[in-house]
Amino acid sequence: MSALKILVIPGSLRTGSLNARLAAAAAYEFAQAGAEVSRISLADFPLPIYDGDLQTKSGVPKNAVNLKRMIGAHHGVLIVTPEYNGSVPPLVKNTIDWLTRVHDAHETRGQVFRDRAFAIAAASESRLGGARSLASLRLILSACHAMVIPNQFALSFAGEAYDDMDRLKHSADIEALGAMVRQLIDVSQRMM
Ligand SMILES: Cc1cc2nc3c(=O)[nH]c(=O)nc-3n(C[C@H](O)[C@H](O)[C@H](O)COP(=O)(O)O)c2cc1C
Repeated sequence: MSALKILVIPGSLRTGSLNARLAAAAAYEFAQAGAEVSRISLADFPLPIYDGDLQTKSGVPKNAVNLKRMIGAHHGVLIVTPEYNGSVPPLVKNTIDWLTRVHDAHETRGQVFRDRAFAIAAASESRLGGARSLASLRLILSACHAMVIPNQFALSFAGEAYDDMDRLKHSADIEALGAMVRQLIDVSQRMM
């Protein structure tokens, strides 16, 4: 069997992003568990705000096609999203919206979402840790027919959660992240 490939996508471009740091911590755990991990930045896949006229005129941007194909080259995907006003930031929603417009000839619509497992995580300085953003993201991905695993991770008080290596410091956080990582690996393996 080929190595299990996991893609980690942080939903923030901000320097020092708490979510990018959580993505780094998760990528480390996936690697420790034996998965082949790719951690990307959405800065490498810039996309305009979705506009149907733009799609009609110019088609789906190459960056959306490339990102969709990168997802398609992995068995499992972790999206780590900030929470903006109780929901996902525009960067995350807009990226998913464009991904749903990509249609590769040999695939049915939405196949890239249906054929692999997704996990979701969030980091916030608040007590809720971005849990409302996770509820929104789960709903959005479910609308795309994605298989979103039950375990998720909302990291509370994220400003104080990491060490200098961007690993989690507190045992409860380490345990919750580990449970999500193990479940994504397990479900992804079963869907291979
Ligand atoms: C427009 C905006 C809205 C926000 N709304 C929330 C919110 O609803 N809940 C929350 O926990 N944090 C909220 N925050 C704070 C973000 O969680 C915080 O800025 C976080 O560090 C952003 O993620 P990042 O560090 O990965 O960029 C908001 C921040 C911005 C800029």
